[in-house]
Amino acid sequence: ARQKIVVVGSMNMDVMIRVPDFPRPGETVLSPSVNLVPGGKGANQAAGVGKLGGNVWMIGKIGNDREGKLLYQSLYDNNVNMDGVTIDDARATGKAYITVTGAGESTIVVYPGANGKLSAVYLRQNVNLFDHAKYCLLPTENPPEVIDCAIRIARNRGVRVIMKPAAVDRLDSQLLSGLFLLVPNEKEIGLLCPGLDTIEEKAKHFLKRGVENVIITLGERGCVLCNQQETTHFKAANFHPVDTTGAADCFIGALAVSLSEGNGLHAAIRFATFAAGISITREGVQPALPDRAALSVYADEIYE
Ligand code: RIB
Repeated sequence: ARQKIVVVGSMNMDVMIRVPDFPRPGETVLSPSVNLVPGGKGANQAAGVGKLGGNVWMIGKIGNDREGKLLYQSLYDNNVNMDGVTIDDARATGKAYITVTGAGESTIVVYPGANGKLSAVYLRQNVNLFDHAKYCLLPTENPPEVIDCAIRIARNRGVRVIMKPAAVDRLDSQLLSGLFLLVPNEKEIGLLCPGLDTIEEKAKHFLKRGVENVIITLGERGCVLCNQQETTHFKAANFHPVDTTGAADCFIGALAVSLSEGNGLHAAIRFATFAAGISITREGVQPALPDRAALSVYADEIYE
């Protein structure tokens, strides 16, 4: 049985700019290619779940424009239920300006646009979208009131929240208590608990505040899972990076799919590690997400 997964998150049109190296302040560089591709952490995670055959529902906001239509279509084509996606007539669809280097590294500047207009009122009016859900994926590119409200709804209904804390420098202790899984990268967790040294200390900071599990993603060094029982390191899958943008979104989507099929965290992490590994060998975020067929090639390593 496939348990239901709800995503409350951002939907952006990504403007992908290729550069040999990141420009330094005051420097001008030329780009050999600029591409528009559907993105946004929420939409990416939803598309990742849908592409792997998960039962996924998107809650988000787009503008009444061409970008919004393309994003809608991309998710629809990836089997995402779109009943919870609403259109803002006054604001443009969110945009992300992404610079990708020859080494596949990227920096991202986000203009929230319509994402900034997703509201707690809307979530409460559409609370039925959470009916029978088992997981709620929650990247944090929408207003704080939306994050807060999504967590409260999920908590009341026993829905497990998986949060990627992007572009935030603090999280209320109140929100953390009972959170099923927090998935920051090294930079994100560093911002949230400055002054702590090791990865383990940083993870424990959240465990003490009631988070059940923390997975810190470390790029080519894999990831670390911390909870009350264990601190376990998982190696990354060995793939050549072309574009690492959105690898964490792919990781989270695949992780949720595996969990929603009844697997434990270790098995889900191995599955997600290979999904993210495949995604970095391809350009863009949503077009780079793997399907089951792509993953089945690595079945021996995933299900070792
Ligand atoms: O995680 C990658 C995503 O972050 C991009 O698709 C961009 O839209 C930003 O939300």
